[in-house]
Amino acid sequence: MNLEEFVKKLGLTINPKLHVVVLTGAGISAESGVPIFRGKGSMWENPEARKLASKAGPPWNTRETWEFYEWRRKLVSKCKPNAAHYTLVEMEKYFEDFCLITQNVDGLHGKAGSKNVLELHGNMWKGRCVRCGKIVSLPETPLKNIPPYCECGTALRPHVVQFGEPIDPNVLTAALTACSRAELFFVVGTSGVVSPAAQMPLIALQHGAKVVEINPNPTVLTPYMTISIRGKAAEVLPQLWKTFLLFSQKQEVKF
Ligand code: APR
Repeated sequence: MNLEEFVKKLGLTINPKLHVVVLTGAGISAESGVPIFRGKGSMWENPEARKLASKAGPPWNTRETWEFYEWRRKLVSKCKPNAAHYTLVEMEKYFEDFCLITQNVDGLHGKAGSKNVLELHGNMWKGRCVRCGKIVSLPETPLKNIPPYCECGTALRPHVVQFGEPIDPNVLTAALTACSRAELFFVVGTSGVVSPAAQMPLIALQHGAKVVEINPNPTVLTPYMTISIRGKAAEVLPQLWKTFLLFSQKQEVKF
């Protein structure tokens, strides 16, 4: 099936009034050179990452934790946004109600130019004070001090949600609200095994959205999808967007 057929199968009229939500995972940054988390080529296959991560831990504002994050920050600092990130910037400009939800902490959506990004798991370029809660931007790597300090005198932790920790309720509420409003939902480059993100496409489906998965591999979400497109995000997403625009310019009323 070619992309035009995919778009027809969706049965939606593409126009700026459509409520659109995109959920991204590590796969969208894979072609930028950021390793994914699970499976072949993942970060956890790297012995150095495993060694550094094994020393990181609560209260997360330790030197050891920052040594692991500095390793990741250095790696990501060399990575640039790819065509998939830039396509989402275009989509944000086109749709009046567009919500980008990401599980990624690499900051590449922001770097590409996306304005409103709900970062479910935080951002590795920020630190958070474990005492006063202040969030501090830490854009440079290497850091001058490890751990970095808050102006209140307390060591900062990375502003990244660790396994078992709750997601910021404001971010989560905004994401869930967007999911329940969505008419068209894209799931890009996630294995769909980490909740609550993994539930989001299903919530959107329950509320009547058409859900499109873009992933080179099938996932646990695949059986529920309206359409699954097998391919790399940086290749599929720009092509799909072009196809959508072609249809919208033809001003088709209904496919
Ligand atoms: N384009 C699109 N998808 C890709 C690409 C690509 N070029 N390359 C790989 N993928 C897919 C893989 O097939 C896989 O389904 O990206 C997915 C990556 O899955 P994970 O590594 O599990 O990453 P993610 O789903 O984002 O993980 C969720 O787990 O450890 C945590 O907090 C971390 O946010 C992360 C969460």
